[in-house]
Amino acid sequence: MNNLDLLVRLAQPGDAEDIAALSRELIERGLPWNWRPARVLKAIRNPETNVAVAGVAGELAGFGIMEYLETDAYLALFAVGHANQRKGIGRSLLGWLEASARVAGAQRIRLETRRDNVPARSFYNELAYQEVAIRHNRYSDGVDGILLEKWLRPRPEGEVLE
Ligand SMILES: CC(C)(COP(=O)(O)OP(=O)(O)OC[C@H]1O[C@@H](n2cnc3c(N)ncnc32)[C@H](O)[C@@H]1OP(=O)(O)O)[C@@H](O)C(=O)NCCC(=O)NCCS
Repeated sequence: MNNLDLLVRLAQPGDAEDIAALSRELIERGLPWNWRPARVLKAIRNPETNVAVAGVAGELAGFGIMEYLETDAYLALFAVGHANQRKGIGRSLLGWLEASARVAGAQRIRLETRRDNVPARSFYNELAYQEVAIRHNRYSDGVDGILLEKWLRPRPEGEVLE
């Protein structure tokens, strides 16, 4: 993907419908639709949450929703549309969110994905996220969740962190 074609930016309220539609299609397919436009809009307006979108030729190609907790950031939702996958958009979008999390002072990023989502696990592993725990029966269809994390600062020695 030519860098000039890709624009990563903070989401605007007008992006909420498209983000919710992408979430339904790519992440929540066959599951209850939790990220409806109103919830996405709330996230866009929440100062503790960063909603980023990647646009290609003015179209929404992908998005990520990152929540800032006390010392960690949590990547709640992340997706790139089918037509735009394997073009480096996910890498750019997550890099943008990671840079924002660093500036916000987050020490690590955590996220969860389905155990059967091999593409996502490969993607996060490629971007230096480590799989640290299995959450059994995490999803409503009984699939396990995999907890992943990436440290943005040196991990504190001897400190036990949940
Ligand atoms: C996972 C996802 C975000 C990756 O986005 P993407 O823009 O296609 O990823 P990139 O093109 O930046 O890929 C970066 C690297 O990740 C790895 N990767 C990405 N997709 C992969 C796949 N389907 N299979 C294996 N490795 C993959 C590769 O190493 C890739 O580098 P390469 O293309 O040079 O080999 C995208 O497939 C997606 O949105 N899937 C559906 C929703 C989802 O599962 N979201 C995450 C869970 S919440």
